[in-house]
Amino acid sequence: MNKTSQNKKLFIRTFGCQMNEHDSERIAGLLIAEGYEICQNPEAADVVILNTCSIREKAEQKAYSELGRLQELKQEKPELIIGVAGCTAQREGEAILKRIPSVDFIFGSPNIDKTAELLKHAIQQKQPAVLVDYPTRPPITLPAVRKDKLRAWVSVMEGCDYRCSFCVVPTTRGPERSRPSREIISEIVQLADAGYKEVTLLGQTVNSYGKRSDEGVDLADLLRMINDIPGIERIRFTTSHPNDLNMKLMTAMADIPKVCEHLHLPLQSGSDRILKIMRRGYSFKEYRSKIDMLRQLIPDLGVTSDIIAGFPGESEKDFAQTLLAVSEMGFDGIYAFQYSPRPNTDAASLSDHLPEKVKEARLKQVIDLQHAVTNQRNQNLLGTIQEILVEGKNEKYPDKLTGRLRINRVVHFSGPDNLIGGLSWVKLIQARLGSFDGELLHA
Ligand code: SAH
Ligand code: F3S
Repeated sequence: MNKTSQNKKLFIRTFGCQMNEHDSERIAGLLIAEGYEICQNPEAADVVILNTCSIREKAEQKAYSELGRLQELKQEKPELIIGVAGCTAQREGEAILKRIPSVDFIFGSPNIDKTAELLKHAIQQKQPAVLVDYPTRPPITLPAVRKDKLRAWVSVMEGCDYRCSFCVVPTTRGPERSRPSREIISEIVQLADAGYKEVTLLGQTVNSYGKRSDEGVDLADLLRMINDIPGIERIRFTTSHPNDLNMKLMTAMADIPKVCEHLHLPLQSGSDRILKIMRRGYSFKEYRSKIDMLRQLIPDLGVTSDIIAGFPGESEKDFAQTLLAVSEMGFDGIYAFQYSPRPNTDAASLSDHLPEKVKEARLKQVIDLQHAVTNQRNQNLLGTIQEILVEGKNEKYPDKLTGRLRINRVVHFSGPDNLIGGLSWVKLIQARLGSFDGELLHA
């Protein structure tokens, strides 16, 4: 343990996706090992790290306004050290210093393992440390300190080799790198020993796991290995790319008992013309036939997706095809986004961008449609008996417990506290958009 930093307080604020949330757990783990302690607000901190997102412009603006506030705080508290991590850090690098000169260190997710060194450098040299290169080494196992005690994120691969024309991720997270399977397994064995019941394997295109390594282990093989770990009850993985969803993985999902009946598979658009310009590499028909096949293997499969509304050049007809696709697919839920032009992406330089108002209206339309689809799907689930992992007390209604279905939907129900942390069975008795009410079944 490093004496000079003992008892220093660290505050981390995270923007963006699950991958970023987990990266923050890894940054926390690294710095706790150096003697730092987590605190709950920037005012109490010696070091503040913002883990930024840059997937859409708004996410980046949020990070910059937060940095502006931290800069003001530093005027009152000059010894405060400010670090910027994540996708905006990787994308902007030193340019961040032009807007926010009080930043002390900047690094992207490919260099998380260097967090402690960068921080020490910033403290000792009293000048900003910036590290935004793209190492090709596989991601290193880091001592994550997780917030949740039951469900754990485990990074299995990082980066992305696709080049979707709208997306900054290949720039912000670098090329695809997979972790060796033995390291993943040993991390999950430790998680099981510590009482974790569920793991979610994370990767930008998690189902291309192993593609670039010579180990010969793919995601289906990895799922089988994890299934053998005692104590782990449920396995999830996200995010999959439709092109890497092959028969071997589908069969594995159907056969392996602990793999949950849920798949998040971003569609993005229902128009083949737009899918082509997005460079997604599949048609809507191909997407649908993969889901159809998987639903034949796993009849109670839950499917969620991502949709972008208002991509450049999206005509009324293209958008109508997206709406049709959303109603045909019967997703359990979607994450829908208004297209946001990102620097250095091919889509940003297309000529036919749509007015904000049109994008907004289409976004609202697709979200409204999905609400109706979700309601329909909910009705079909009412009355069914489902396994839940009991996560804890309900935040809104403390006399109720909250659990999660294998299809990844939330259920509230009444039951004794000693069920927390284990599996129970409930009957779904009422449905809302975001959750169900359930009735506990006594064995
Ligand atoms: N495979 C990745 C996807 C990253 S981005 C993962 O790990 O989740 C998540 C979603 O954001 C994408 O599926 C897409 O629907 C949306 N998105 C990405 N770039 C966007 C942009 N420029 N504008 C609007 N939405 C975008
Ligand atoms: Fe982005 Fe496409 Fe990769 S959405 S993360 S470039 S698969």
